[in-house]
Amino acid sequence: MAPEPPSSVSEYVEGYLAEDDTLVSARALGDQLGCPPVGLAEGAALRFLAAALRAKAVVEIGTGVGVSGLHLLRGMAADGVLTSIDVEPEVQAVAKRVFRQAGVAPGRTRLIMGRALDVLPRLSDGGYDLLYVDAAKTEYPEYHEHGVRLLRPGGVLALDHVLFQGNIANPARRDAETLALREVVRKVREDDRLVPLLLPIGDGLLLAAKIT
Ligand SMILES: C[S@@+](CC[C@H](N)C(=O)[O-])C[C@H]1O[C@@H](n2cnc3c(N)ncnc32)[C@H](O)[C@@H]1O
Repeated sequence: MAPEPPSSVSEYVEGYLAEDDTLVSARALGDQLGCPPVGLAEGAALRFLAAALRAKAVVEIGTGVGVSGLHLLRGMAADGVLTSIDVEPEVQAVAKRVFRQAGVAPGRTRLIMGRALDVLPRLSDGGYDLLYVDAAKTEYPEYHEHGVRLLRPGGVLALDHVLFQGNIANPARRDAETLALREVVRKVREDDRLVPLLLPIGDGLLLAAKIT
């Protein structure tokens, strides 16, 4: 029997690029551990961005079990280093295993355990090609400020899940996460140091290229 055709454009987009067995099993681990990995289309977007930027230095906030990290590493330059921050040592240990099983050389990952807002001030200004965020939504406005500081000119800030469950479009939603996401989406749009692009993949991937 012929496979069912995709029922929507977004389903087609999600299925456009398949993942290999390593990513499929890492994804299953993330779901088991309650640490949901990025979707397939977001993963593909990260790999694309890292490749287009020929990224050698990337920061990720929210390592999780390493699904987004592996997409980034596969797009980056062969000697590029991914600095990835997570507050949960157990999930970061899983990510470390996933990277090794995928054949990533140990020197290509710098895994830092800690709260992002404690770690980010220690990273070098202008030293990074790409900053990818998938962590505490209430902290996104602060990640935006750190991102502008950490990126080189031409570098890209990528904030994931900014349209989380459609909440920011619903004026009745006033919880802390929704307010923070609304704030960061507005601030990035108004920031004249950045060229923004809001992509409707996953639950919203907000990109912004740093001009100077
Ligand atoms: C949705 S998971 C990330 C999934 C990952 N991007 C992937 O594709 O596998 C979010 C992660 O952010 C981490 N996190 C949450 N708040 C954080 C914070 N304030 N600082 C650092 N990490 C944080 C959590 O421990 C969790 O592992």
